[in-house]
Amino acid sequence: MERGNVLVTGASRGIGAAIARTLAARGYGVFVAARGLARCKELAHELEGAGGRAWPLELDVAAPASIARAVADARELGGGASPAALVNNAGIAESAPLSKATDATYERHMDVNFHGPRRLIEALLPAWKESGRGRVVNVASSAGLRGYAYVAAYCASKFALVGYTLAVAQELGDRGITVNAVCPHYVDSPMLASAIRNLVGTTGRTEAEARAFFAGQNPGGKLVSEAAVAESVAELLEGDESGLVVELDGTETKLHRPNGA
Ligand SMILES: NC(=O)c1ccc[n+]([C@@H]2O[C@H](COP(=O)([O-])OP(=O)(O)OC[C@H]3O[C@@H](n4cnc5c(N)ncnc54)[C@H](OP(=O)(O)O)[C@@H]3O)[C@@H](O)[C@H]2O)c1
Repeated sequence: MERGNVLVTGASRGIGAAIARTLAARGYGVFVAARGLARCKELAHELEGAGGRAWPLELDVAAPASIARAVADARELGGGASPAALVNNAGIAESAPLSKATDATYERHMDVNFHGPRRLIEALLPAWKESGRGRVVNVASSAGLRGYAYVAAYCASKFALVGYTLAVAQELGDRGITVNAVCPHYVDSPMLASAIRNLVGTTGRTEAEARAFFAGQNPGGKLVSEAAVAESVAELLEGDESGLVVELDGTETKLHRPNGA
């Protein structure tokens, strides 16, 4: 079944690439967006080879001018129509103890993990209000529901994203536009591979020990798969409920409705 077009940020690798593959297989036209255009082109090519519809899109979510350009490009590529759905997945996570995190650390996390998603939603909202339909899924994190040591900037930015998701969902009410969040615990992705390298470097643990440490942090003792996040995103895009927070902990999916039923 052919569906509308969806803009997926941070789609060049990891969770975003899994989301792009899942959505293309479900019939969405996918804008594969990230800073690294070459990888976006490769993935778009792969999706088209598998019978899907996809377009690579250069996008730095930390730069307002890049957002404006990407949204305009997506509209042009979509034959004049704005993407009907947005998956705000691009994100960064840098670890540092409180004594080493600077203003710049906090600003980088807020720009990429919060202001970028917010600005993209704001850029697409007028078209959705006009058409009476829009879908947003924000890929937040369990770090938007609880605290973790050494990633205060990451946690603060993800709490901001969850709070914004819920406020926008509440404000838009039943205008046909849904805004939801997924909050995975540790996911087996390139971002985790980098956290593992970091832990190995700072503690002298082996790679296997570092990996087991992160898996052990998840309530079920298992890493979340990229595919599980992608499946959850697809389900949220297809539903009509707004203000949902879906927590994926590696073994269980917990549905939260912080705004009330
Ligand atoms: N991995 C986990 O354990 C985990 C757990 C919970 C939530 N999450 C969240 O899931 C999302 C995806 O994580 P991941 O693990 O797949 O990370 P990843 O492997 O590091 O991939 C991050 C993606 O975001 C893109 N990106 C980074 N900065 C960007 C920017 N300024 N503008 C546009 N794109 C940008 C990257 O491409 P370019 O570098 O080419 O731009 C890449 O495609 C993030 O929001 C992350 O916080 C991850």
